[in-house]
Amino acid sequence: MCGIVGYIGERQAQQVLLRGLEKLEYRGYDSAGIAVFDGGAIRVKKRLGRLVNLEETLNGHGLAGTVGIGHTRWATHGRPSDVNAHPHGDCSGRFAVVHNGIIENYLKLREELQAAGHRFRSETDTEVVAHLIESLYDGNLLRTVLRAVSTLRGAFALVVMSADEPGRLVAVRKHSPLVIGLGDGENFIASDIPALLSYTRRVYVLEEGEAADVTADRVICCRLDGTPVEKDVLRITWDVRAAEKGGYDHFMLKEIYEQPKAVADTLTGRLSDDNRAVLPELGWDAEQALKVDRIHIVACGTAYHAGMVGRQILEKLTRIPVEVEVASEYRYRDPIYTDHTLVVVISQSGETADTLAALREAKARGAQVMAITNVVGSSVAREADHVVITWAGPEIAVASTKAYTTQLVVLYLFACYLAQLRGTAEPTVIDEVLAGLRDLPDAVSQVLDTAPAMKAFAQKFAWKESAFFIGRGLDYVAALEGALKLKEISYIHAEAYAAGELKHGTLALITEGVPVIALATQDHLYEKTVSNMKEIKARDAHVLALTWAGDEEMASVADEVLYLPRISSWLAPAVVAVPLQLLAYYAAMERGNDVDKPRNLAKSVTVE
Ligand code: F6R
Repeated sequence: MCGIVGYIGERQAQQVLLRGLEKLEYRGYDSAGIAVFDGGAIRVKKRLGRLVNLEETLNGHGLAGTVGIGHTRWATHGRPSDVNAHPHGDCSGRFAVVHNGIIENYLKLREELQAAGHRFRSETDTEVVAHLIESLYDGNLLRTVLRAVSTLRGAFALVVMSADEPGRLVAVRKHSPLVIGLGDGENFIASDIPALLSYTRRVYVLEEGEAADVTADRVICCRLDGTPVEKDVLRITWDVRAAEKGGYDHFMLKEIYEQPKAVADTLTGRLSDDNRAVLPELGWDAEQALKVDRIHIVACGTAYHAGMVGRQILEKLTRIPVEVEVASEYRYRDPIYTDHTLVVVISQSGETADTLAALREAKARGAQVMAITNVVGSSVAREADHVVITWAGPEIAVASTKAYTTQLVVLYLFACYLAQLRGTAEPTVIDEVLAGLRDLPDAVSQVLDTAPAMKAFAQKFAWKESAFFIGRGLDYVAALEGALKLKEISYIHAEAYAAGELKHGTLALITEGVPVIALATQDHLYEKTVSNMKEIKARDAHVLALTWAGDEEMASVADEVLYLPRISSWLAPAVVAVPLQLLAYYAAMERGNDVDKPRNLAKSVTVE
């Protein structure tokens, strides 16, 4: 969950490392540090807090040298502090290590190393690696690191430098992503591509269980047992600006506004002229589609909410029973598989530890796994049997926005694709969903015009203690996602309820002035939802309703109404998501929160 960078070449390493870390702060931001070899020794600077604290410390006291490693941390072992920040060193100061992930057997190793005389400074699991390397060092850094790694348990990525071999960096990937950027007379290492884009577009993606021996002039990759590996160069085609804020105040706002394009990109080439959903990456035939007799959808957080929408659409169109579960529960539940269960994992990053573990569990039990992910080459993408990419582009803000709407698009497409192959749904229903998908980029674009209204509403209620979101059917799922977004970045306590469930307990919390956001986009459930809203109004809550343009009744029921561009009810979650994201964004802004980096959270959750 932390960000790692490494540099070796002719530039001053400090600048390259800091610039790379800026791009990786979304992975963790409770402390940061760099280590640079100055020609005689490894110098280390690290600071608690955001990267800017480290930059201030280095101002006027910079580290000179052309080889170095850097890290931005999201604490797992040991609280955030200067001393627990990475890089970590050994007793002699000859080695420096940055690390992402968890070393599970670090306590035992620490005891053994302490018994052998090693002195530890931090509370981290990482420091064990530095001392272990010191104790095993045989004059060859690569060989020593590989020996050290063979005694480590857990999921991690490491980059190691040594004052004894300063022309060399060693990187290791074990269940945690790492890429090597290829330059001319210089090379780069990072846990994610945006950190490299200012310097190179040619990368090696390290695979599971691979290491790289990196000098300024060459990169040699091998397996952890030392067997050499030939790597293909991946050329990155993203625009550098796509990974930056592009004029918006925050990545989150930029990503909200990118949704019409992200949705359109995700649909490109997937809707045929004869009105079929096309997923060439699956290339299934009717026999394969008819075999599937059960679907498990597994994901975390927002991706899980996308899965909840997916369940309703898939069941309606394919009549296959679908279960949806959060990955952290699924992986330990011993789920029941038929011979033809399809497991669909959804993950923006493709690196979420619980989702990856659920995928592995399903595969180990013989299930076919399909991944819906935004990151080509991610662990989830590489390990699944089938992959469908959401073409949302890099999502940097911690709160997921465009990844969610594009996950929905893929799920709608997949449901239509399966239903058309199986011949299970009324053509009129499929036609309605496909027509809705064609309309979606425009509808999402139009609904962005609700920004001023959502801002005004957010400013009014930003200091309330709690808020409620209600809806029925797909509106209930959309309400869950709206509440998560609000909690996550505004820190307002928010709960989502199936509208019919309120009177079974929660109505006790509805008192004068409590904000309630009521979603009423499901035509067949509209009257029922309106009745529930009236129950709420009778308790003097302040109700904001989201309904379709043209609804003439709602103004007499709710205190405020936000009208949405009309589209098929099936597609409503993808449209409703946008004003709810804007509501969360403006509420967080009003409260002065760090929108892109909400407290206690990180973008890519690569620990359990
Ligand atoms: C919420 C959010 C998280 C992620 C979750 C899964 O806005 O971003 O709930 O959706 O951590 O992440 P991925 O999709 O990368 O597996």
